[in-house]
Amino acid sequence: MKRVGLLTSGGDCQALNATMRGISKALYNMYGEEVEIVGFLDGYKGLIYEDYVKLSPADFSGILTKGGTILGTSRQPFKDMRTPDANGLDKVEAMKTTYRRLRLDCLYVLGGNGSQKTANLLSEEGLNVIGMPKTIDNDLWGTDTTFGFQSAIDVATNAMDAIHTTAASHNRCFIVEIMGHKAGWLTLNAGMASGADIILIPEIPYDIDNVIKAVQNRNKRGRGFTIIAVAEGAMTMEDAGMKKKAYKKRVEDMLRNYPSISYEIADQIKAGTGLECRVTVPGHMQRGGQPNAYDRVLSSRLGTYGAILFSQGKFGDMVAIRDHKITSVPLSEVAGKLKTVPIDSDIITEARMLGISFGDR
Ligand code: F6P
Repeated sequence: MKRVGLLTSGGDCQALNATMRGISKALYNMYGEEVEIVGFLDGYKGLIYEDYVKLSPADFSGILTKGGTILGTSRQPFKDMRTPDANGLDKVEAMKTTYRRLRLDCLYVLGGNGSQKTANLLSEEGLNVIGMPKTIDNDLWGTDTTFGFQSAIDVATNAMDAIHTTAASHNRCFIVEIMGHKAGWLTLNAGMASGADIILIPEIPYDIDNVIKAVQNRNKRGRGFTIIAVAEGAMTMEDAGMKKKAYKKRVEDMLRNYPSISYEIADQIKAGTGLECRVTVPGHMQRGGQPNAYDRVLSSRLGTYGAILFSQGKFGDMVAIRDHKITSVPLSEVAGKLKTVPIDSDIITEARMLGISFGDR
C-alpha cells in the first residue's frame, strides 16, 4: 500500500483543486486500490496538528473547474517554522511526527515561494516531498509559469476592460491596482492584454513626473482618458534607492495617508495635471473563481508529472514547466529565490514599442 499526503499552502488561487485532481487521478490509475490519499487541512497547520481527512476518488470528482481549495489553506510563514508555537510545540518535529505516524510515502506541497521553502526544509529533514508550483504572482523561481497565474491575468484583464469603457465615456484617468506582491508579472500581462497606457511594476521604478508627462502627452494627442496598471508593489526611483528599513518606514508613512500606493499616485496625477484620476482595486477577486482553460490543462499536466515523480521515487523536487515542457527542479534550487520580470526581457521592449510608458523615462 502506498500512502500520500496533499496540502495546499499560502494564498489560494484558481487551479489548486485541478492540480490535486491531476495528481490523484494519475496515482489512482497507476496504483488502483493500492494507494491511499490523505489531505491536510488549512495548509501546514494540518500537518503540524495532525488535522487531516482521508480522501477517495469521489472527492476529486467534479473539482477540475472549482476555484479555491477543497482542503483549505493558511499562511504559516517559513521564518516562524523553527519557532515553537504558543504551547511550546516544535512545529518541524510535529510535521515529521505526523508524516511518520500516518506512514506516508510522500507529501505533495501545493504552494508558492514561502511554502516551497518549508517543503525544502522538510525534504532536508528526510521526508519525501514533491512541490507543485502555485501562485497568481508567477514569482516562483525554476518554472516559467505557475498555475493560477493565467487565470488571474484573465480576472485582472476583465477588470481593466470594464474600466476602459467607463474611463473613455467620462474622459477620466483611471488606475487599476493589480496584485503580485514584489513581482510585476500579473500587472505587466494584464496591462498589455487590456491596452493600458502606463504600467508601473516593482522591477522598473518610476518617477512621478514621467507618469504625469505620459498622461499629459495623451491629452495633447486628443486622448481624454488614460488607463494605468499599477502593481501593488510599484515603487518610485527614490524608493528603490532606499535601504530596506527606510523603505519600510516610507511605506508605513504612505499607508497612514492612503489605502495603497495607487491612491498616492492618483493624488499626484491630479495635482500635476488637474485631471480627475480614480482608483479601482480588484484585490482578491484576482485569486478567486474558476481556473481558465489554460490553467486547467497546465494543472492536469503538472499533477500527472507529480505522480510520475512519485512512481520513480524522485523526491525533493518541484514540478515545473520550462520551455513548454513539464519537468522538475530541485527544491533546494527553488527555495529562497524570487523570479521577477527581467527588465531587459523582450516583453518589456515590445511593450515600449507599443508606446506603453513604465514611468522610468
Ligand atoms: O501571493 C498571492 C497574493 O495574492 C499576492 O499577490 C498578494 O500580495 C498577497 O497574496 C495578498 O495576501 P493576503 O491574501 O494574505 O492578503
